[in-house]
Amino acid sequence: MTTTLIHSIGTLFLASDQTPVLARGAQLRTPATIADAYVLMEGDRIAAWGPMDHCPTHPVDARIDAQGGMVLPAWCDSHSHLVFAEPRAGEFVDKIKGESYETIARRGGGILNSAQKLQALPEEVLLERALQRLHAVQRQGTGALEIKSGYGLTVEAELKMLRVIRRLKAQANMPIKATFLGAHALPQAYQNNREGYLDLIIDQMLPQIADEGLADYMDVFCEKVAFSAAETDRLLEAGWRYGLTPKIHTNQFNSMGGIETALQHNALSVDHLEVVNDAELQLLAQADTIATLLPSAPFFINDSYPPARALVDAGTAIALASDFNPGSSPSGNMCFVVALGCIKLRLLPEEALTAATLNGAYALELADEVGSIGAGKRANLILTQPVLW
Ligand code: NIG
Ligand code: FE
Repeated sequence: MTTTLIHSIGTLFLASDQTPVLARGAQLRTPATIADAYVLMEGDRIAAWGPMDHCPTHPVDARIDAQGGMVLPAWCDSHSHLVFAEPRAGEFVDKIKGESYETIARRGGGILNSAQKLQALPEEVLLERALQRLHAVQRQGTGALEIKSGYGLTVEAELKMLRVIRRLKAQANMPIKATFLGAHALPQAYQNNREGYLDLIIDQMLPQIADEGLADYMDVFCEKVAFSAAETDRLLEAGWRYGLTPKIHTNQFNSMGGIETALQHNALSVDHLEVVNDAELQLLAQADTIATLLPSAPFFINDSYPPARALVDAGTAIALASDFNPGSSPSGNMCFVVALGCIKLRLLPEEALTAATLNGAYALELADEVGSIGAGKRANLILTQPVLW
């Protein structure tokens, strides 16, 4: 087994042999860190870490001098739509000219546009394009990833997407979780038959997905341009019957009961939250559910940002994720997400880093494997340039 030693680390971030608890409120800005440290890796696992005074002296296969740089766990990106046909560059221009995300969605653009493109692509091509994106985000420091379906919107195309995600799981050297998002948008063919599409999801998609073991989680886009809270309730209940824990899109543009519904169904996370009222802030502060913020979406669609400070100050557990998708967030770069977390969400650097690593790992139910630095965890680390103050 190859042994690698990183020495002379200025700050080792989130180092703890016991998995740290999910960080909420003030805990987000007090992660365990040590200064002047080393990490020893054996194969793909962390073997030991500690202060430089105790740095191992035995021979190793490779030595890396961190020269005072910081070492942190790889990003845990708990919300992405990385499997898609192609970016919607035309709509990017439409938005510059003044059309909103919701207006474009209402005229059949947006998610429906992406679904049309994806339905036409063979599984192999979809896989090839997704793999390229996966390798790109990996180079940018992502070490664990959630990927959603939701650009299929037919039984066949949703299954195709989930099979691509299964193949990514098998080929990637990082853990990946799959989320079923059949309820991403109402397909054109069901514009006058909402019930018919819900029945299709519940009676046909879910049983086949469960049969093939294709999904870990269940997602619904609870929003005026997508599905109501009552519809979300029905879908999440059906998902639970197949053992799928909810992780939902809600409160992106409107507050309409999605958070309350998600909490009633013990959702692992509620994602987006650009629009949150006081009652919802209180609910989230008391809940075990993680509030996943996706600042690159409001950045790219030039919308308002989630009230991250109010959430953290109320004691909520927040995670940061990329929302990598062909429309509202055509980037899976978690370094950019963390920068937006600080600049636009007003998170302190420690808060943003903890939200993008440890809490992201919790939002993937992978905290025992990734998201912190301890013996036995995956040796998947980010080494920064030397930090000079
Ligand atoms: O998280 N809001 C819904 N879903 C995605 C956008 C998907 C798309 O526009 O293609 C999101 O922003
Ligand atoms: Fe999303």
